[in-house]
Amino acid sequence: MENLDHLRGALIEEVAAAADLDALEAARVRALGRKGRVTQLMKTLGGLDPEARKRAGQALNALKGEISQSIEARKAALSAAALDARLGAERIDVTLPPRPAARGHIHPISQTIEELTAIFGEMGFSVAQGPHIEDDFHNFTALNIPPEHPARQEHDTFYLPGPPRSGSGTEGGTEGERLVLRTHTSPVQIRTMQAGQPPFRIIVPGRTFRADSDATHSPMFHQVEGLVVDEATHMGHLKGTLIEFCRAFFGLADLPVRFRPSYFPFTEPSAEVDIGCARADGQLRIGAGGDWLEILGCGMIHPKVLANCGIDPDKYQGFAFGMGIERIAMLKYGMPDLRPFFDADLRWLRHYGFVPLETPSMVRGL
Ligand code: PHE
Repeated sequence: MENLDHLRGALIEEVAAAADLDALEAARVRALGRKGRVTQLMKTLGGLDPEARKRAGQALNALKGEISQSIEARKAALSAAALDARLGAERIDVTLPPRPAARGHIHPISQTIEELTAIFGEMGFSVAQGPHIEDDFHNFTALNIPPEHPARQEHDTFYLPGPPRSGSGTEGGTEGERLVLRTHTSPVQIRTMQAGQPPFRIIVPGRTFRADSDATHSPMFHQVEGLVVDEATHMGHLKGTLIEFCRAFFGLADLPVRFRPSYFPFTEPSAEVDIGCARADGQLRIGAGGDWLEILGCGMIHPKVLANCGIDPDKYQGFAFGMGIERIAMLKYGMPDLRPFFDADLRWLRHYGFVPLETPSMVRGL
């Protein structure tokens, strides 16, 4: 056993030289494994006399302990180094710009809503919402469209199945409180005015429903409503607001905008708004050009509508407008057909979709 010091040196050197956990395990097996060098020496103890066996046994146990310790120490060092290497390799630089554009696009409807919210937001409008399922009162009667009014036919209304609810009786008439899918966003005018006190300055982007389907009509489509009520609101405010909106939305500072007299039961006077365009070689170009495209309906809120919402029409007046979101999106982005908006065709979405992080804002441009 006199060469134990020599053996200790050799084994500890082997452990220290192990470059990774596998090499370390091999070194351990060579020293302490079943056929390892220390284990082999242990087996020779039986042939010694008791005194010598005791000394040799103690010496071998001490050696075994030392080797085990140096293996544990080496293991800890190797594990720490491995973790360091992994952390180094997997480190991410959070200051690098993200790359979301590779997958997923913002739908043109969402994009257009973001854009018009940015424009009207800067003018001081806030966004309001209302239910898709409406009662007859909010969708029609309160908007000065009584039962039997021809405007009800023009709306191609989806009526919900089931008998009319026995309602509060606010509206009377034969229609009761029949539930409908709202045919326009105008009922949110009513809900907003019923719920609060003037002044109001809101826009309402949202879904609307009419039983109509072809290349330019979808049974579900989107509108944005606008409502402004205050003590001195007049037609000049309506015109200024909408001209400014059209020019900002289409990005043309000199876009011609025309107000053409029209009729809606809930506004008086009423107008439809046209924007200038040019049609040449089957191409449509928005801007000055001698032709006109209708894009929205508007007017001064009918005094009866204000009164229906408990607002004194002698003290308050205001204007409202309603616009089809698909339509203005199609015009702005040159989309020829309405139907693909709701086909969920990835090729169309990749082509017409928008990059997610490029949020529209008036400061950066739309
Ligand atoms: N609600 C009307 C429509 O759907 C649009 C409109 C809204 C007109 C507000 C005037 C004022 O056609």
